[in-house]
Amino acid sequence: MHLPNYKEARTRDLRPYKRIEFKEDSEVKDKYKGKTFYLKTYGCQMNEHDSENIEALLMFLGFSKVERYEDADLVLLNTCSIRENAHNKAFGMLGRLKHLKQEKKDLIVGLCGCMAQEASVVEKILRDYKWVNFVFGTHNMYQLPEIIDKAIEENKQQIEVFSREGDLIEGLPVLRVNDYKAYVNIIYGCNKFCTYCIVPYTRGRERSRLKEDVLAEVKKLVDDGFKEVTLLGQNVNAYGKDIYDDYTMANLLEDVAKMGIARIRFTTSHPWDFTDEMIDVIAKYPNIMPSVHLPVQSGSSRILKLMGRRYTRESYLELFHKIKDRVPGVSISTDIIVGFPGETEEDFQETLSLVRECQYDNAFTFVFSKREGTPACRLADPVLQEEKEERLQRLNEVVNHYFLENNKKLVGSEVEVLVEGISDKKHMYYGYSDTNKLINFSSKKELAPGDLVMVKIIEAKTWSLDGEAVE
Ligand code: 5AD
Ligand code: SF4
Repeated sequence: MHLPNYKEARTRDLRPYKRIEFKEDSEVKDKYKGKTFYLKTYGCQMNEHDSENIEALLMFLGFSKVERYEDADLVLLNTCSIRENAHNKAFGMLGRLKHLKQEKKDLIVGLCGCMAQEASVVEKILRDYKWVNFVFGTHNMYQLPEIIDKAIEENKQQIEVFSREGDLIEGLPVLRVNDYKAYVNIIYGCNKFCTYCIVPYTRGRERSRLKEDVLAEVKKLVDDGFKEVTLLGQNVNAYGKDIYDDYTMANLLEDVAKMGIARIRFTTSHPWDFTDEMIDVIAKYPNIMPSVHLPVQSGSSRILKLMGRRYTRESYLELFHKIKDRVPGVSISTDIIVGFPGETEEDFQETLSLVRECQYDNAFTFVFSKREGTPACRLADPVLQEEKEERLQRLNEVVNHYFLENNKKLVGSEVEVLVEGISDKKHMYYGYSDTNKLINFSSKKELAPGDLVMVKIIEAKTWSLDGEAVE
């Protein structure tokens, strides 16, 4: 048994990581043939991609996938810690599973992902959720086959959570959700330690994958006919810093672009590490999508300092305008937190004025959520929750206004869309444009997921656009 520990999670091991090739334990291959699993994923793209590895590992054990948890022999929750409501959702699901387990005694239940890294969650599971069969952490994914096998064979709760990242495991099997667009991890962890954020504790220090490993994975995707790749990391712009002297995110983006895949995206970018070289590369290569997610968090330099964001309102705006000026037609999206401890109405007004200046194409807005173990959790927080909720509503009205205004500018133009499928509205296909806008459209020609088509935009809505395929 390995239990999580925040003190350890906070430390940063400066020694180079070891790169280990994953080896399958052939003794457990197909051992659970005939059994089924249901995997529920909460949170970000990183978790979604981890789930693609988890599914492949479960399949290796012989499990097959079902769509309803009630039908499964094994239910696994891949959880998220970022805000309290993500926690609540996972615990709500555990409540439903407890009932199910009363009827179905053999049901195996497990929890993994970021919540598994939290000492308080694991303590609660040890105390109140003794019926949960296993828990494994974000650094223990490669041990999944042996953990599950042991939980079943020994009929004893297994808790395997390394507080600190150990080796970097390459070659985990992956079962991709799509056969035309794919996630590729380029860097794990985060060293930024923004004061509100739990990620540096749950995901460990920054560790870049070797460029050869990333490029080999992209090459395989190109050979397999994939159209889009999204390079993933908590802060992709820090790519390379931990392992190379002279190879950066700009170099990696350029090398990936040269491999000729139709579309390249990357997320998430911290403004601090966004270099001029990166902007030049994005502008130069037509297959790097003109779409940048650039979380601002707050428009007040005072709050940004308290958040430990390492930039000011002014330096953010300078970067924002530089990207807008140098990358033609670029869309920029952001994340914003309202109600950070001590945020005054004046601070909030600065966020609103920054939003009016930036006129974002998309924005994910949140009320500050206290995360145990983070520095912001200990700050005095006199603002009432209702006031914070009200600020969120006021902010959303402003951001929504600009989503619509930006979308209206596209009416009459033609955009390239990567087809994802047919939407609920009959005969309407849907997919995303180069600037990452959701497009619903009709087409006289039959299309399939993965096709790239030009679509003429007819109508703008706040969160999507309607159009018709150009013959
Ligand atoms: N409370 C609210 N929002 C948070 N985020 C991260 N931590 C918190 C928190 N404690 C938001 C940030 C980040 C996004 C992924 O989640 O805006 O960019
Ligand atoms: Fe969290 Fe900041 Fe790291 Fe993003 S950059 S994961 S907000 S600590």
